[in-house]
Amino acid sequence: MPPTEETDAATKLTVGVPRETREGETRVSLTPDVIRQLSRKPFEIVVERGAGELAGFTDSAFEDAGATLVDAAGDVYSKAQVILKIQRPTDDEISQLREGQTLCALLQPLTNQENVVKLSEQKVTALSMDAIPRITRAQSMDVLSSMSTCGGYMAVLLAASNLPKFFPLLMTAAGTIPPAKVLVLGAGVAGLQAIATARRLGAQVEAFDTRPVVKEQVESLGAKFIDIEMEESGEAEGGYAKELAEDHIKKEQEAIHAHAMKSDVVITTALVPGRRAPILITEDTVKEMAPGSVILDMAGEMGGNCEVTTPGETTVVHGVTIMSPFDLPTRMPFHASQMYAKNIATLLEHIAPDGALEYNMEDEITKGVVLTKDGEVLHEPTLAWMKEKEGTA
Ligand code: NAI
Repeated sequence: MPPTEETDAATKLTVGVPRETREGETRVSLTPDVIRQLSRKPFEIVVERGAGELAGFTDSAFEDAGATLVDAAGDVYSKAQVILKIQRPTDDEISQLREGQTLCALLQPLTNQENVVKLSEQKVTALSMDAIPRITRAQSMDVLSSMSTCGGYMAVLLAASNLPKFFPLLMTAAGTIPPAKVLVLGAGVAGLQAIATARRLGAQVEAFDTRPVVKEQVESLGAKFIDIEMEESGEAEGGYAKELAEDHIKKEQEAIHAHAMKSDVVITTALVPGRRAPILITEDTVKEMAPGSVILDMAGEMGGNCEVTTPGETTVVHGVTIMSPFDLPTRMPFHASQMYAKNIATLLEHIAPDGALEYNMEDEITKGVVLTKDGEVLHEPTLAWMKEKEGTA
């Protein structure tokens, strides 16, 4: 549907959606349903032809939603004031950005410092979607939660399809098959989604998290919360996880050992912001698991929760299949794109409520996401990280 409001095109903010170029990326940053909402407001949307193809969104669906389609990425970059992407830009993409243009993507500044420096040299206003502050007011912009939801769901499906067993209890003429036993470690957004998905497939689920507050949420999903007596709560200020002392982790590993040994599938999602992921499953535990069992380690990008995980790979260790995929959300690009698009559009409306970009650096959300502007790196955690690295160089 074309825009209905009689708005002067000159007052509209032009927002561009190029096709993602990094290998393996299947998502698109805006979807037709979200474009329909945006184009009723002071936004004009330009989409590169084919941008939504891998996610299941056709060019005509984008056109029907009110977007203007262009043939080449270069046209998106030249026409738009704001570029919306998923993956951080390649050097070629950075060279197409111009001074004062805004780029919004998953920039992961702490692990891609070179990219940050190049964006600031290009005098681009770079907004990092993974830096949205995790506060109630910003929940509808929180792509990390959206992608964890996709990841937790897909992790269970992948584990189930690699397990040589059924998940549900089956009573058949060929005998009774007991339900699979699934252990979920870490019950944040991804873990809770994994629990819910495994329960829906009929598995018996146990879970553990160092933040005691999640016990009730785990139980409300029909899973058993493993009670491990910890002298220290794993909860830090603001409700986030904190790193536990070594002896506490050891105690947790020992307690988890007995549960993991009896599990057909272990899904691990335990993360502590800014730290290496805690090792919760030791090699000794893997040795004692039944052959054919599956460990799906969602913490691989932060080193892994299992001692013998090879991040990004699937291996078989002591007869146990250990999977550590990095691409879980891209395996379900339709909904992953739709959720990402909703989140990014909400941020766009936050920084340009009337179609004019306003960077109010007093605002917690804006301050949290602006990485570079006017040739400077402004993001405090990135600056602190860069200083620390300089100091150790
Ligand atoms: P995350 O992905 O950083 O960590 C996953 C889980 O691992 C956390 O629940 C953490 O407690 C757990 N964990 C850490 N060390 C562990 C260990 N040694 N053993 C077992 N578990 C361990 O966290 P996520 O899922 O991104 O967020 C966690 C919580 O933060 C959410 O459940 C929610 O309450 C809150 N949150 C709030 C948001 C907002 O207000 N906008 C947005 C997202 C999350």
